[in-house]
Amino acid sequence: MEEHDRPAQFGGTPKRRYYTGGNLERTHGIADLRARAHRLMPRFVLEYLEGGAEDEATLKRERAAYGEWRFVPRQLVDVSHRSIAAPVLGRAAPMPLAISPTGLNGLFMRGGDTALAQGAARFGVPFTQGTMSNDRMEDVARVPGLRHWWQLYIFGGDEIWQELVRRAESCGVEALLVTTNAQIYGDREWEARVQVNGKPTPGAAFDAARHWRWATTTLDRGMPEFANVIDFVPKERRRFFDSATWIREQMRKSLSWDDIARIRDRWKGRLILKGLLHPDDIRRALDAGVDGIALGTHGGRQEDWSVVALDVLEEARGIVGDRMALLMSGGIRRGTDMLKALALGADAVLTGRATLYGLCAGGADGVHRALELLHDEALDGMGQIGVKSLDALDRSVLAHASSNLRQRRVTSS
Ligand SMILES: Cc1cc2nc3c(=O)[nH]c(=O)nc-3n(C[C@H](O)[C@H](O)[C@H](O)COP(=O)(O)O)c2cc1C
Repeated sequence: MEEHDRPAQFGGTPKRRYYTGGNLERTHGIADLRARAHRLMPRFVLEYLEGGAEDEATLKRERAAYGEWRFVPRQLVDVSHRSIAAPVLGRAAPMPLAISPTGLNGLFMRGGDTALAQGAARFGVPFTQGTMSNDRMEDVARVPGLRHWWQLYIFGGDEIWQELVRRAESCGVEALLVTTNAQIYGDREWEARVQVNGKPTPGAAFDAARHWRWATTTLDRGMPEFANVIDFVPKERRRFFDSATWIREQMRKSLSWDDIARIRDRWKGRLILKGLLHPDDIRRALDAGVDGIALGTHGGRQEDWSVVALDVLEEARGIVGDRMALLMSGGIRRGTDMLKALALGADAVLTGRATLYGLCAGGADGVHRALELLHDEALDGMGQIGVKSLDALDRSVLAHASSNLRQRRVTSS
């Protein structure tokens, strides 16, 4: 049971259940898509999807941070015409959101990257394909109407990123997101507990076989492969789990601002640094010639006990002003989460798990439904707080819960 359900329940009544059926129109929130994903996916896939690093303290903070901000709604504002449309990296979009890169989408369903791209393109928002994706970049690029972004991991020699950048250019990729916070792989212990020697434990494999619907839509042609980088992996290490481990071992631990300068030199399109949190790094990014930054913790999967994007957004906005785009990722599950991030200074948000729940629940249609739910909730949320357009959505619509409590304690003592 989720925390937020409890105030309206007494001793477990009325009994509440999320909708887990296949009729997407009956889903009322991302939580329904998530519940269906949990019904359909085997345990080792769910550990990959849901897990965070070590004690999952960063992962918990990702959601808790939103709980600290409350809206202070305005009344008697004509909100009959509202819009959440806003440009994303300078191009019009129905809402300021893009799908964040996630690796191994082929574990959720065969063609997972393409399905995410299709859902995003139908809705009109960008989709970021990851270096660790399973569908070929060139195939995803053919999705009609797609705003195709590419996430770059720097591993192995320079020839790897240079080749990926060359392909991205010829595919018409609009933006390159260089991930900066995953050179040392976060220790996702819960994911590791259902694996032995880099493969699912016998128990987890048995559990996977019992999920026949997942098995038939995912593994019918065998395990997915890292289609965009597999040629760089030594032949004897190309099996699915082994190739993932090999790539992880090759991540460039020396990644630095010099590498960013060389990538900036080589890539002429939009360049975003993904995974910054420290104010000094944000300042440094202003001098690196990049077009923007995406604050975030990699969904709580890297450094444990770290601050999260929402914690540093206001300060980050103060630093960047209007000199570059400010994106963020982490914990977006509601339209109101998006509103809070925008009010604190984000130009746009990135979604990881919310759209993946949609993918698991219903393929491209499920991804589209996840986007629609976030959009509609945000639009209603704006109406309820008396805001007509994103220009009017600023810090004044928010109060920080703990500072209010502190104030109350001071005045009552
Ligand atoms: C299953 C999974 C795989 C991910 N893989 C990548 C990746 O390959 N590259 C990357 O830059 N970020 C990756 N991320 C991080 C996401 O891009 C995003 O920052 C994060 O999921 C945002 O948090 P949210 O899931 O709460 O929305 C991954 C996240 C998840 C959940």
